[in-house]
Amino acid sequence: MADDKLLKIEKIQKGTVIDHIPVGRALKVLKILNIDDDIGLTVSIAMHVKSKKLGLKDVIKIEERILDSSELNKIALVAEGATISIVEDYNVIKKFSVKTPDIITGILKCSNPKCITNSGEHVKSSFLLVSKEPLVLKCHYCEREMETEDIIENIQ
Ligand code: CTP
Ligand code: ZN
Repeated sequence: MADDKLLKIEKIQKGTVIDHIPVGRALKVLKILNIDDDIGLTVSIAMHVKSKKLGLKDVIKIEERILDSSELNKIALVAEGATISIVEDYNVIKKFSVKTPDIITGILKCSNPKCITNSGEHVKSSFLLVSKEPLVLKCHYCEREMETEDIIENIQ
């Protein structure tokens, strides 16, 4: 392809690249990271782009930002297998993929309104991973099973 037909997202100098996001999930990831109008950082988003591994994928690049473990666990819930690259001085200094842990604590609200974790008693939510594909989590307290759509809506 001629060079003038290629439009690639620029490399970043410093920050985080979230690659191999399942196609259609980029906006959910942005929401998890509270990235909105007044972010004040440079964020590049590519949706529905060709991927060797996945067929189609979404990609997000956030300059100057490093993600914490709670953010990474939340991303795993909506984009299992996404690749995180930490960039410094234009080089990838660390690269790993996000994985849903076997026990998910404190990042998801149980969708059962009667669950003790919704009673105002300050019991931290806790879920067990039942299945990855499709994603099913089970509340440790009330045993309510939650599936993808329900999970995405209730990430805290
Ligand atoms: N990247 C970036 N800025 C840099 C370095 C890398 O935006 N200064 C991005 C790349 O575009 C890629 C990701 O970070 O999306 C991982 O970089 P690298 O490991 O160099 O790329 P690939 O080998 O192409 O990665 P993969 O095999 O994971 O697709
Ligand atoms: Zn519950």
